[in-house]
Amino acid sequence: MKAITYTASAFVLAGHTLDAQDCPGYTASQVTQNGHGFAADLTIAGANCQAFGNDIADLALEVGYQTKERLNVRIYPKDIAPANSSWFILPPHLVDQPEWDGKTTANSSDLKFEWSNDPTFQFRVLRASNNEELFSTYGHVIVYEDQFLELVTNMVEDYSIYGLAENIHDFRLGNNYTQTFYAVDAGNSIDRNVYGVIPFYQETRYHNGLDTTSHGVYARNAHGQEWLMRENTITYRTLGGSFDLYFLSGQSGNGGSSALTTIAQFQTGCIGTPAMQMYWTFGFHQARWGYENISINQAVVEGYRDANIPLECFWNDLDIYDLYRDFTNNNVTFPLPEFTQWIEELHANGQHYVPIIDSNIYVSNPNNASDTYAPYENGKNLQTFIRDPTTGDFYFGDNWPGFSVWGDWLIPSTQEWWTNEIVTWYKGTPFDGIWIDLSEAASFCAGSCGNGRLTENPIHPPFLLPGDPLTFDFNYPEGFNISNATEAASAAAASASQSSALSASPILPAATTTTQGRTEPTPGVRNLNYPPYVINNVQAGHALGKSSIEPNATHNDQYNTTEYEMHNLFGLQISNATYHALLEVFPGRRPFTVGRSVFAGSGKTTSHWGGDNTSTWGSMFLSISQAFTMMMSGIPMFGADTCGFARNTDYQLCSRWMELSAFFPFYRNHNVKATIGQEAYRWSSVAESSRRAMAVRYSMLTYMYTLFYYAHTKGETVMRALAWEFPSDSTLRETFNQFLLGPSILVTPVLVPNADTVQGVFPGIGEGERWYDWYTLAEVKAQPHENVTMSAPLEHINVHVRGGSILALQQPKLTTRDTRNTPYSLLVALDDNGQAKGSLYLDDGESLEPNATRLVQFSYSDNCLEFSSEGQYHASQPLSNITITGLAGSVNSTGCYPRRNGGWAHHGGPQHSSMHYGGKNCDTGGFQTSYSNGVLKVSGMDKYTKDGAFQENLKLCFEW
Ligand code: NOJ
Repeated sequence: MKAITYTASAFVLAGHTLDAQDCPGYTASQVTQNGHGFAADLTIAGANCQAFGNDIADLALEVGYQTKERLNVRIYPKDIAPANSSWFILPPHLVDQPEWDGKTTANSSDLKFEWSNDPTFQFRVLRASNNEELFSTYGHVIVYEDQFLELVTNMVEDYSIYGLAENIHDFRLGNNYTQTFYAVDAGNSIDRNVYGVIPFYQETRYHNGLDTTSHGVYARNAHGQEWLMRENTITYRTLGGSFDLYFLSGQSGNGGSSALTTIAQFQTGCIGTPAMQMYWTFGFHQARWGYENISINQAVVEGYRDANIPLECFWNDLDIYDLYRDFTNNNVTFPLPEFTQWIEELHANGQHYVPIIDSNIYVSNPNNASDTYAPYENGKNLQTFIRDPTTGDFYFGDNWPGFSVWGDWLIPSTQEWWTNEIVTWYKGTPFDGIWIDLSEAASFCAGSCGNGRLTENPIHPPFLLPGDPLTFDFNYPEGFNISNATEAASAAAASASQSSALSASPILPAATTTTQGRTEPTPGVRNLNYPPYVINNVQAGHALGKSSIEPNATHNDQYNTTEYEMHNLFGLQISNATYHALLEVFPGRRPFTVGRSVFAGSGKTTSHWGGDNTSTWGSMFLSISQAFTMMMSGIPMFGADTCGFARNTDYQLCSRWMELSAFFPFYRNHNVKATIGQEAYRWSSVAESSRRAMAVRYSMLTYMYTLFYYAHTKGETVMRALAWEFPSDSTLRETFNQFLLGPSILVTPVLVPNADTVQGVFPGIGEGERWYDWYTLAEVKAQPHENVTMSAPLEHINVHVRGGSILALQQPKLTTRDTRNTPYSLLVALDDNGQAKGSLYLDDGESLEPNATRLVQFSYSDNCLEFSSEGQYHASQPLSNITITGLAGSVNSTGCYPRRNGGWAHHGGPQHSSMHYGGKNCDTGGFQTSYSNGVLKVSGMDKYTKDGAFQENLKLCFEW
């Protein structure tokens, strides 16, 4: 092995720089058209260069106009031995592979493909309508080796691209950033690889006041990879697989393109739209590592109840387990049947329960007859675990319980085993969903370290666990020394004394790491554990095998596929398997699984949380951009560990975070062990912030649910960047300190300590948009692009309703069940033209295929509110109130508004009621009404809708 040094751009190996762009590239020949694209051969155009692997001399190229808006370019080895196919081709049964729609041709496509052999094969993708170049490898060679693929696309000046999830990074990725993709158990590593891999970006182009355009690029490849964004180019490198690129035009019917359409095309056409979630999952969730027995669980549930703060779902971490082993119950701390009864009590109160399942399975100690662990024995009988190629036995890594194995999702018996374990465990632990952890998959040692050592099981992990002696975390958020000076000083002192105690008597040896640089490409050999190209994996030495199953571990399929190919898919697969297991537990019910590692397409079965963030203001801020990338990636059921996972939170950060996360789809407070507790009731300010923010959230649960319906059916986003909703405003291209929930709700959180004001913009003002304060319904008075300073006392989060929206609301209660049983009201927020619209989706809230649904479309114009309601679902709650904001000032002048005139006179058919109001007689017909400052409130309508708010189409006109 020669000595090497790693530099950001290339490797310097024994005096010469390896730049893969020095490779010879390919020449295209044998072009054959097929009506919707063409195929060709690509032949290497010079000597092998062995840049970071062994060159593949003969490639196949396929160009397909798959749908009007999607073009596919595939490049893969021409002759693949069957046994090697998984090295190169990602099977469609593992990850959806979009195909031709059977009708699109080059002539009917939004996109155009051009190529040249001068000097070597290069291609570009253009927008057919105006020849706008969207992607172009012109001027760069294509590199295709067995462990390294590279292509370079030219980019426009100062380009704006978004996505490439998962990352903890600014929303706009920037022009000097490298996104590494390799699923990793490494906390929230900012600007590096994290838990998930979704190789899709969306690019927005602002054209100096002309229409903004957007397109997308999805690279369907599951290998370790890197995307290097540089000033004028993006370089895409992978450690294997094929080029399987999907270009999305972002265009809709009218020919214009947008980010939202591009994202929808990615979801509907490439990876699948997200699962519809159960209604209750939108309630508030409380988790913690450290709820160590039933009494502690109960105290938390009571803490919420006593503080009058909604708690929908209680989560247990590893603490429930016996010796950290999945599917067990600690007999002392969580004994059955007491624990079962405790969960059933939650259910009786309309609450829910979710426990953790780790991805690793403890291996029974072969020398200890009393150490039989059924989930391992059962899997062993079916031979369902990943293998160590050096022994042929299972791959024995290490995790919380000791030496462990991992399910091999490539063989069907693994699903059978997994389902059986989950179904069996449910009998004593009647959960409502499953939290899948460590699915990168994480291992604490390098290699199959349990080989020959299983008799030592259960071994302690090779480091101190939170909660072990001398592990208390004394870190606090930024600004804590100002808001809590005395406490900060004593924490600093305690931390120093803990450190010196720890160094005086080390409890465990320092962890060992495997560090090795690149290996040299060797003909006929693939070095899986240390490939020639070293991606910038966040683990020590960038080693792929560090903290995970090593790449050379093998699967039990016919090709003995290796982890090198499968690593990034473990999270997707275990979540899918859990989804199917839950279908056995709850036939016909939507499975709720929340997974840590995700891949493109995961959203079809799973939700996701942001992983191990920290109790810092920065971490809270970055949760918004992380959420945007998940919305783009079809995993909208996303949320961050609210108040922060690692380190201690404080009352300010936790208040602000409870407020912020109330507007994320998945709303969960979670915390590591050996830190202070951070349930919302622990500080009066956090309690009050939470009550207020949750009141807003729970009032609009039907809105959130309707957004999910559109995400599920159309690939629409739930949380939205301002730039997506206001594409012509280039000043919003980097904004993520504010966000929208759907099209209608603007959230402006406080993201810094010690603040009682917050600044934010109100997009579109001056161009027909209006915004109303959620709490007062007063219209925002601001100048176009003004950065408005708003009052933001600690317990208050600024929420604004966009003019032009109609929202169906309910009354916030302590559970979603109780909220769902309250009467509806409508909030009509008028735009500059006195108009508004909105919609509401209803069903039973839990069935995979509900036997009845209802979709209500609301509109308001010419002083009439109208709704058309379709479907069979019966929402029995009445409609009790209507509030209209943004009415013209003159309404005020005539006094008593409104008056009911003629009752619910039916005209226009039995499904059409109308009600007229007039200003003269002041007959309110039993309604309570009030009007001031442009806001009309009509209440007491229940008696007219007691059979259900939306059973009939309705037209209600107001006469001034
Ligand atoms: C890592 C997870 O990310 C975290 O949420 C969990 O609390 C710990 N594992 C312990 O299970």
